[in-house]
Amino acid sequence: MTKSNMDLYLEYINKRGSCLSVFRAIADKYELKSGIYPGSYIHITPSLCLSEMYYVDSDKKAIAFFKHQNDIEAYLDKNKCYTTAFDFQFEGADFTKPLGAKRGYYDLMISLYSGFISLHCKDYLRKGGVLLANDSHGDATLAFYDPDYAFIGVLVESEKGIEISGDTLDRYFKMKSEKKVDLDKVKKQMKGPNYRNQVEYYLFQKKV
Ligand SMILES: C[S@@+](CC[C@H](N)C(=O)[O-])C[C@H]1O[C@@H](n2cnc3c(N)ncnc32)[C@H](O)[C@@H]1O
Repeated sequence: MTKSNMDLYLEYINKRGSCLSVFRAIADKYELKSGIYPGSYIHITPSLCLSEMYYVDSDKKAIAFFKHQNDIEAYLDKNKCYTTAFDFQFEGADFTKPLGAKRGYYDLMISLYSGFISLHCKDYLRKGGVLLANDSHGDATLAFYDPDYAFIGVLVESEKGIEISGDTLDRYFKMKSEKKVDLDKVKKQMKGPNYRNQVEYYLFQKKV
């Protein structure tokens, strides 16, 4: 039996986790409506919490997945957490090159396991917009040292679920020794340093 398009998505989130509670917590706290997700692959979960999403990926399987627009729309219609209509677009492109996305527009930019999105896609996030990044490829580290972003929070798991915390943020991005972070090495290796305290998700706000 051939797999349906949405089976591919369900299998994918079964393996990686959906992150639904992460996107929902951020969208609720900062009242976000639109987002851009460079390096999304087929991870369309943000559309369940944000009514307008722009996905970007150069992978052939992602391009094929997003061709099945009707399946994706039916899934979003059934599972979205908001009452308004949704709007999503996909661009099968390299996010290090100029994209068709709106500049200075999106409320949220998502950078998960895909490279230096804080750098290459900065222009698409609006001033005051939120960047959600992890440090698997060192993008949270890059954003931390980028003067155009302010480090505003982390997401932590508690018995109440996922919570956004802005407390004691000076504990993060500190090496185990007193060594300074070598940003050239982070860029070359595309890997975040091994910090004394680390979390899965970091939040930044675009200042300019
Ligand atoms: C490990 S997957 C992560 C997918 C998704 N962010 C997630 O967390 O489930 C990395 C994705 O980034 C995409 N990617 C990496 N570099 C890219 C680039 N320069 N332009 C477009 N897509 C890119 C890959 O094609 C791949 O689909």
